[in-house]
Amino acid sequence: MSLYGRDVISIRDLSRPEIEALLESARRMIPYAEGKKVMHPLADKIVAMAFFEPSTRTRLSFESAVHRLGGQCITIADPAVSSVRKGESLSDTIRMLTSYSDAIVLRHPSEGSARLAGRASERPVINAGDGAGQHPTQTLLDLATMQEAFGTLSGLRVVLLGDLKYGRTVHSLAYALALFGAQLVVSSPPSLQLPEEVRDQLEPLGVKIQEEEQLHRAVRDADVLYVTRIQKERFPDEADYLKVAGSYRIDAGVLAAAKSRLIVLHPLPRAGEIAPEVDATPHAAYFRQAFLAVPVRMALLDALLTAPKRARAG
Ligand code: NCD
Repeated sequence: MSLYGRDVISIRDLSRPEIEALLESARRMIPYAEGKKVMHPLADKIVAMAFFEPSTRTRLSFESAVHRLGGQCITIADPAVSSVRKGESLSDTIRMLTSYSDAIVLRHPSEGSARLAGRASERPVINAGDGAGQHPTQTLLDLATMQEAFGTLSGLRVVLLGDLKYGRTVHSLAYALALFGAQLVVSSPPSLQLPEEVRDQLEPLGVKIQEEEQLHRAVRDADVLYVTRIQKERFPDEADYLKVAGSYRIDAGVLAAAKSRLIVLHPLPRAGEIAPEVDATPHAAYFRQAFLAVPVRMALLDALLTAPKRARAG
């Protein structure tokens, strides 16, 4: 089993043992991600960051991960200043980046773009978010945060709250949680439910999804409350966004009925779904989650770009 040279487009590209190995490697990377220890396995590597949508944490934590591993980055952070502005196709842009770098991290507004890029590139492509599609590396760090808090993923009762229709982080996460035997509870405004195609992918894993529209009831038995932002930018019609804007908010009142060990996660940025007063409670795990992006992405880049050591013959 090796991830060397592979693409990571969907969380379904990774098996459960591969995810477990990445989480284990990420745990070992923590002191390196903190700068307390040093290792440079990517000393001769260049990683291209091709970001065609806004990003703070994803791009900067990938860049930090590359630097911590001794590699270099080349970055498109603003498509307005690249040739995309002149009408260059995504596959041409990717083909160019392939010849300038050893791996490509892509964020793009169209669902399916990362799969297309993977076909255009001989180098590993990592999907850092394709429209309302998938966000597999966010899932790895979400899992890492849960595992750090509870020591296991199996049996955890995880509530996915918010925009489950357009939120790509939950599309990837729901699959991984099902793979690890977690219990899934979904809570969203009726117009933002988990899409059928995502549910269809979960079905073969034998997971039962519980629906709970009432926030208070969803929170009561939860181990993890995974809060998401309403993905305003993906609504075809602003009037539909306005109907659901501000429809849920986690504050001290909502958490009063929660288990003492409940952790609140959020991929961030938050836009009012979690009141700032929650930050000071022991439930708040979203800043730890944001930090774990670095060791998790270090583990992934190391696995994709470092050739496995061959067992010596004889
Ligand atoms: C998420 C994304 O871009 O999908 N953010 C992230 O990667 N940390 C979630 C969001 O934008 O709401």
